[in-house]
Amino acid sequence: MSGIQYTLREWNEVPAELDWLSRNERTRLNQFRFEKRRRDWLLGRWTAKQALLHLEGMPASDIGRLEIASTVAGAPRPFLDGVRLDTGLSLSHSHARALCVVSHEVRELGCDLELVEARRPSFVETFFTGAELGLVEAADPEFRDTLVTMIWSAKESTLKALGTGLKADTRSIEVTPTEEPVSAGWFVADVVAGTQSFRCFWRRDGQFVLSVSATTSAMSRTRTASSSLATRTASSIMIMQKEQPTAMVSAPVSRA
Ligand SMILES: CC(C)(COP(=O)(O)OP(=O)(O)OC[C@H]1O[C@@H](n2cnc3c(N)ncnc32)[C@H](O)[C@@H]1OP(=O)(O)O)[C@@H](O)C(=O)NCCC(=O)NCCS
Repeated sequence: MSGIQYTLREWNEVPAELDWLSRNERTRLNQFRFEKRRRDWLLGRWTAKQALLHLEGMPASDIGRLEIASTVAGAPRPFLDGVRLDTGLSLSHSHARALCVVSHEVRELGCDLELVEARRPSFVETFFTGAELGLVEAADPEFRDTLVTMIWSAKESTLKALGTGLKADTRSIEVTPTEEPVSAGWFVADVVAGTQSFRCFWRRDGQFVLSVSATTSAMSRTRTASSSLATRTASSIMIMQKEQPTAMVSAPVSRA
């Protein structure tokens, strides 16, 4: 299946029996000292494996063949039978929920799941650029918390797509929401990180904002190298949720 797929899962879906973890993963799990971190990590692995099973068309019983390792910087890397999969993957966990995005076409991608809540002005002043601060100040008060959460989430998604994590200054990434029409609750923002540009898709999901960021260069490579059918599918986000196994959202991935 083409495009970028996302999967949302909740903690109460994670089986108590841990036979779906690889031996390396069980070793890693035993190293966590805090229960919250252990739960977040487990939920992330469970969600990522559900996403991969769907993407690769594998039966649920094959889950033990998958492993989600981590780079030194913390970025997740998927393996099947010990062999690295050439698949883009990113994950996020928040308040007993997890989000994972996977793609065969786009390798440099990141995602984030963020609870919408009121944040102090000092948060925006510390982590946002001057232009972002201006957008927040001009926003309808009812939309302010969503906007702040979305901008923050887009930065985190982009940090993951870059693979840099905590090393980067969040003000080196600038998020500009667009007016482009995208269906099924999705919106688009342009993101600039130094010389690199990204497209960030975001939506409200109950009390959460979820965002998916991917480089525009990865997208244009996909578009020029693909057949017309693949180009069409690669220019959309595929939805994969419990309620909507394969519904498609026509979310354009580039302006071209
Ligand atoms: C990497 C980072 C973006 C993760 O975001 P987070 O909100 O802490 O946590 P999330 O649940 O959204 O994401 C965690 C997942 O990101 C992934 N991740 C971690 N480091 C990563 C990296 N360098 N590249 C790509 N993905 C990474 C991992 O899969 C991790 O889950 P896991 O450890 O269970 O596998 C974050 O730690 C970070 O660097 N933030 C920078 C923002 C900042 O300045 N924060 C401090 C002020 S509040």
